[in-house]
Amino acid sequence: MSTSKLDTSLTKELEALKQEGRSKSPERIIEQYIPPKDESGPRYKMVGSNNKFIRLNSNSYLSLSNHPELIAAADKATHKFGVGPGAVRFIDGTFIHHDKLEKRVAKFADKPAAKIFNSAYTSNCGLALTLSNKKTHWIGDQLNHNSIIRAMRISNIPRENKGIFKHNDMTDLKRCLGEVRPDIERIIVIFDGIFSMRGDYAPIDKINQICKAYDSKFKDGVITIVDDSHGIGAYGDTGRGTSDFCNASPDIIIGTFGKAFGVNGGFIAASKTIIESVRQKADTYIYTNPLSVADCAAAIKAIDICDSDEGLNLLKSLKERTAQFRQGLERLGKESIKGPHPVVPLMVRDTPKTHDLVKYLFDHGVLVVGLTFPVVPKGDETIRFQINACHTSADIEYVIELLSTFD
Ligand SMILES: Cc1ncc(COP(=O)(O)O)c(C=O)c1O
Repeated sequence: MSTSKLDTSLTKELEALKQEGRSKSPERIIEQYIPPKDESGPRYKMVGSNNKFIRLNSNSYLSLSNHPELIAAADKATHKFGVGPGAVRFIDGTFIHHDKLEKRVAKFADKPAAKIFNSAYTSNCGLALTLSNKKTHWIGDQLNHNSIIRAMRISNIPRENKGIFKHNDMTDLKRCLGEVRPDIERIIVIFDGIFSMRGDYAPIDKINQICKAYDSKFKDGVITIVDDSHGIGAYGDTGRGTSDFCNASPDIIIGTFGKAFGVNGGFIAASKTIIESVRQKADTYIYTNPLSVADCAAAIKAIDICDSDEGLNLLKSLKERTAQFRQGLERLGKESIKGPHPVVPLMVRDTPKTHDLVKYLFDHGVLVVGLTFPVVPKGDETIRFQINACHTSADIEYVIELLSTFD
């Protein structure tokens, strides 16, 4: 047998993606990490270039990925238990580190219990499989992350059991709630905490208040869920994310260990009954190997650091560098979306100019991502900058200087 006929069809599909402007560029490869030194934050060497790059497209907001204590914790766990779990959780693939991380992240999120997954992506899908039945109605923000959209799609509910509200538009959320059929028993309202392409946040306090008014009308009530992958660890006074920033907690929190915590993996934090239901019903939890003990040990250490003076200092640096960068853009008269989050979009509003600016920055040793249609609507073409706690003041000034010389 040969795959040549399939290869021919796939080649046509790939060509179509390219024509539509939807294909991804080749992946750049990092070949070396250079630790921070004096006025210089971490640098990266890339295959095919002699530059040493500042990375302004990493989600590792607190710069914990290379923290010596995380590396030591991962090392120690690996030496004790090996590199892989050998089985799924319910067939004796559960190690002490999985249990400890679940307890630690539940405490961090201020919820009674938590379950860990291989990613936030699979957490969203697993939660949808757990909560959905024919009498469930899902409502989501128009700009929700792909993992939430996918989760709503695989939840096997009829098409009419879904509502989408305009981005952060509370009047439209009310419209969606008002349109739910009376025979529905359970409403799920789900939204990103921080919208990753824009750096703005969901007003959880207002969403909770609106949902509360509809709660008594439905048998299982209105359940609010935030996916705070970009907020957890990086936002709010204590780094607890968008709930911290809004001073309001939704019923269920989804997060990742792969961004501010600098490791890998995802979690759901909620009531004990919801978490036990996840354990029994979420296929993306049940039928796949869990995180390695190394990932878990490093994630536990990352949360401990977030909760310490060191973590608060990192958060302070992150906020200072973010403010410095945002002020720099303002000084140059560049358009952005206001807010304190370290995702800072530069609105270019033109596709070729976005590509040119990404290349210009790359040629001068700066890694960023350009967002063009269909990732963002036409006219909203953007360069997304992501600040992290180990960028130095000199790093930020260098990038601002570069931006001032591009036209
Ligand atoms: C809101 C949201 N959810 C989920 C993810 C995926 O996180 P993970 O890499 O843990 O699957 C992302 C980031 O890409 C995100 O922005």
